[in-house]
Amino acid sequence: MKKILIAYSSRTGNTEKIADFLAEGIRFAGHEPDLKNISSIDGKETLAGYDGYIFGCPTYHKDMTGGMKKFLFLAEAAQLAGIAGAAFGSHTHSGESAPMIFDTMEYVFKMNMTELGPLNLTESMITTQEGLKACQDYGKAFCEKL
Ligand SMILES: Cc1cc2nc3c(=O)[nH]c(=O)nc-3n(C[C@H](O)[C@H](O)[C@H](O)COP(=O)(O)O)c2cc1C
Repeated sequence: MKKILIAYSSRTGNTEKIADFLAEGIRFAGHEPDLKNISSIDGKETLAGYDGYIFGCPTYHKDMTGGMKKFLFLAEAAQLAGIAGAAFGSHTHSGESAPMIFDTMEYVFKMNMTELGPLNLTESMITTQEGLKACQDYGKAFCEKL
């Protein structure tokens, strides 16, 4: 059984729902998700020891959140090169955050990113059957990289 860190931020709970559904997919695949709000992560040591990492936050003002920007500097120090990674986010119309996080993990941290690309959902889709399935499937597919 592998251990996956899902680290996210969420102002009104939409991105947190994606994180919860992703965690279900990881459990279905027989692995152990560890869900953490990035506000509870204060040192690079907290990031050590996982087999895979999935980071996510919503889009506000066509950008990732300030908290996620700070968190990514922390993650840089954790030296995650070569480790399995994925990214997600929620939005209403433009959705910049998920691809920005994904690109940072791929090109800056040089992680082994899922071929699926980022999971980038509109908030209205998240709680539909289709949205739930998309999250669970993404979590399950991510586990195939481990
Ligand atoms: C002030 C404000 C600015 C926003 N800016 C964007 C934006 O630029 N692009 C976009 O796609 N969604 C934007 N949104 C929508 C949020 O991304 C969306 O509501 C998201 O699901 C919130 O996620 P959360 O509940 O995890 O905080 C904005 C929302 C607010 C309130």
